[in-house]
Amino acid sequence: MANYDVIIIGSGPGGYVCAIRCAQLGLKTACVEGRETLGGTCLNIGCIPSKALLHASHMLHEAEHNFASMGLKGKSPSVDWKQMLAYKDEVIGQNTKGIEFLFKKNKIDWLKGWGSIPEAGKVKVGDEVHEATHIVIASGSEPSSLPGIEIDEKVVVTSTGALELSKIPKKMVVIGAGVIGLELGSVYARLGTEVHVVEFLDAITPGMDAEVQRTFQKLLTKQGLNFTLGAAVQSVDATKTKAKVTYKLRKDDSEHTIDADTVLVATGRKPYIDGLGLDALGVAMTERGQVKTDAQWNTNVKGIYAIGDAIEGPMLAHKAEDEGMAVAEVIAGQHGHVNYGVIPGVIYTHPEVASVGETEETLKEQGRAYKVGKFSFMGNGRAKANFAADGFVKILADKSTDRILGAHIIGPMAGDLLHEICVAMEFGAAAEDLARTCHAHPTYSEAVREAALACGDGPIHS
Ligand code: FAD
Ligand code: NAI
Repeated sequence: MANYDVIIIGSGPGGYVCAIRCAQLGLKTACVEGRETLGGTCLNIGCIPSKALLHASHMLHEAEHNFASMGLKGKSPSVDWKQMLAYKDEVIGQNTKGIEFLFKKNKIDWLKGWGSIPEAGKVKVGDEVHEATHIVIASGSEPSSLPGIEIDEKVVVTSTGALELSKIPKKMVVIGAGVIGLELGSVYARLGTEVHVVEFLDAITPGMDAEVQRTFQKLLTKQGLNFTLGAAVQSVDATKTKAKVTYKLRKDDSEHTIDADTVLVATGRKPYIDGLGLDALGVAMTERGQVKTDAQWNTNVKGIYAIGDAIEGPMLAHKAEDEGMAVAEVIAGQHGHVNYGVIPGVIYTHPEVASVGETEETLKEQGRAYKVGKFSFMGNGRAKANFAADGFVKILADKSTDRILGAHIIGPMAGDLLHEICVAMEFGAAAEDLARTCHAHPTYSEAVREAALACGDGPIHS
């Protein structure tokens, strides 16, 4: 008789959500976590702390740039960095304790320590071996650096170090214009740091709709971020207080250097599976070092499943959560399902950038006939009143059926606005369905409706 029906290794958004759903479905559940607090990368060193710093620094930006025009005069606030970090830590603490509370409420055992799987049906934590009919690997990911670059988390940092720098740097080089580079680059640019982003490709945020990429880069440049694109970083030479980044421009192979107090290496993340014993168990992996699973998150070893950043797909908290819920349902004999075609992606800069489904580029690649409905926030009254009129909503719909295929928003609250389109896509809606839905005035969401109208007879306010 097993001690547990399910043991989950890792308590990030994949693992903790899986544990709660398993418990709700009547399964005796434990979750192994080696970190001091629950919540994984997301709550401790990822989504939550980065959003706290983005929020605080955005407030400063508003005070410095928009308050006076609204008649709010006086000195702009000065930055107490220690207090800003304390606020961020407080937010982390509230969130991680929240998961501890949910575990207690759902009678989930937290097995404290680093777990390994000596054989199918067994999980070892410290000296204790626990038995479980089902084991879910939800061990997440870690930063992947570049060869030859040494991370000290003080001068040359990953996102983890960038969330707790001892002081605000005067000059920062960010390697990689992906999500982490632009979110954390924005934080420091708003706090007064001179930020230089060096990106290998010729555009920022690879994979995103090209029109959004261009607008996004323009807006970030206006906010003071500097970009060098098409540049392959060769090396980073660091002392205890400074670093020199050497890169080659791909177009002419010319070599350049740039000095900084801090270098943020934001060149992607890779699955974290150290110490689990997957090799000895014979668990199959993909070429990119992810745990290989089938459509129901089974690995090739019976009774062992994997979800979240440890497997294929976008490394996003909500993707991990959805897989956590779905695999719990599969384990309970139900029909867990994730629609990978409708996973939103949001960058929490200002303005926010949000995207779901196909881009114009992927539709062209597939040779599909589509139409574009676009509406600028300049035509949205609420956005103008709030100094938030930069950006647009773009809806892509099938040319003959009008079915929504994708949507891309750059603008105020883009991450929240996107979800009505996600719901519409889940229901197989046409752009006209959105266009015929009454939207409250004055809201930013009217811009979504106008973009949907633009897929048909045309928007009203442009
Ligand atoms: P993780 O959250 O990485 O959790 C895995 C957990 O497993 C860890 O706590 C680890 O300690 C534990 N673990 C690993 N191995 C073992 C073991 N052997 N024994 C015991 N415990 C183990 N995503 C978004 O969707 N939105 C965002 O805004 C966002 N912002 C981010 C900002 C930053 C700076 C970073 C770095 C990431 C961000 N992400 C964001 C990505 C998001 O954090 C991940 O996609 C998400 O955390 C993945 O969840 P997970 O459960 O798969 O793994
Ligand atoms: P990323 O994959 O988003 O971006 C990495 C960037 O680095 C790419 O643009 C790549 O071309 C560039 N790069 C790679 N090698 C380079 C080199 N040698 N020189 C210059 N540039 C180079 O990875 P990032 O930003 O590290 O984020 C990791 C993961 O975390 C992402 O998958 C993301 O989904 C997740 N995340 C999500 C957030 C969100 O949803 N808001 C926020 C932060 C992270």
